[in-house]
Amino acid sequence: MRAASVSDYRELARRRLPKMFFEYIDGGSYAEATLGRNVADLEAIALRQRVMRDMTKLDMSIETLGQQLSMPVGLAPVGMAGMYGRRGEVQAAKAAAAAGVPFCLSTVGVCSVEEVAAAGVAPWFQLYMLKDRGYMRDLVARAKDLGSPVLVFTVDLPVPGARYRDVRSGFTGSSGLSGALNTAWDGITHPAWLWDVWAHGRPHTLGSVAGALQQGRRVTDFLSWIAKNFDRSVTWRDLDWVRETWDGPIVVKGVLEADDARDAVRAGAQGLVVSNHGGRQLDGVRSSISALPRIADAVGCDLEIYMDGGIRSGLDVLKALSLGAKACFVGRAWAYALGAGGEAAVTRMLGTLRSELAVAMILTGCGSVAEAGRDLLDHDLAIAKE
Ligand code: FNR
Repeated sequence: MRAASVSDYRELARRRLPKMFFEYIDGGSYAEATLGRNVADLEAIALRQRVMRDMTKLDMSIETLGQQLSMPVGLAPVGMAGMYGRRGEVQAAKAAAAAGVPFCLSTVGVCSVEEVAAAGVAPWFQLYMLKDRGYMRDLVARAKDLGSPVLVFTVDLPVPGARYRDVRSGFTGSSGLSGALNTAWDGITHPAWLWDVWAHGRPHTLGSVAGALQQGRRVTDFLSWIAKNFDRSVTWRDLDWVRETWDGPIVVKGVLEADDARDAVRAGAQGLVVSNHGGRQLDGVRSSISALPRIADAVGCDLEIYMDGGIRSGLDVLKALSLGAKACFVGRAWAYALGAGGEAAVTRMLGTLRSELAVAMILTGCGSVAEAGRDLLDHDLAIAKE
């Protein structure tokens, strides 16, 4: 199958990846209500078709936090991408750089920040707060020394949400002989992945935090490692602590409430990502797109507002811009593409988002992404979602 859309990349990834990795990417927490809402609420928003305007000139570029982006899209931090494609973070970072959009490297990436930077891309760096603050300080300093332009501090994962699919697939909680057999069978029955990632994509560790992982831990044990090592005591005051080491822009990722957004401003953040972690944390919370307008109204003049969760097309990007986002991040969309066909597929997927965004702009009469506003949306539906 030639992939035409994000859902096609999803299907290709489903065929190519071991079940445990596909389910890990695809799934959400508990009953996956929020995961479903992220997508459904975007779908429910209606754009307004406008005709007979000269749309020969389109401006999709933006400038944000000192970065020039060719379109208002970035690759969200996704853990363990090196298990979906050989040295996956490097492949995705190259695809993003070629497309002129940011790649945000997860704290729990397979490739370290050093490995991605050595490939010629200084990634935005995503930070999870581990209890070992000395280690965290060094990690932030490493990213800074390598030229990472933006630090993305994820605040919605003091503990991992319960993800039933990971238990059912054997990704978490399986041990002993049956667990090992399950893992081996999952790998053997996906030979393309076996050759690409298992045989030629080593080492399979979490590169940036390898020093903090206990020796001998399998990469797939990392959710239990997170539960033990992530710091639940973290508060807004810790941003001061981060700033002692990091003097560049800080983006707080994982805000859904206007009050928290105001706190992020008070704490000195330069940006925030309206996000529920792709429906992977507290199931039952509202969709990101429905949280966006309130937050944009509350703090839109004070910092850069980004949004992620449920973005599956360029149409979705335009809807999010119309409701107040400066740019959108995609998580699953690039993880699926990476699993489906590596860097080339991530490049094609970004090309698809770009052309879909262009078509949506032309057909709504929006010549510049900077001008996207609520007038592009069917008023009743947009307001109904707030
Ligand atoms: C994530 N996400 C995430 N976020 C983060 O801050 N650090 C991380 O390591 C990860 N890891 C991760 C793994 C996988 C497999 C997924 C799907 C997601 C969340 C991610 O950055 C983003 O918030 C969501 O993916 C956005 O939702 P969509 O685009 O996947 O619907």
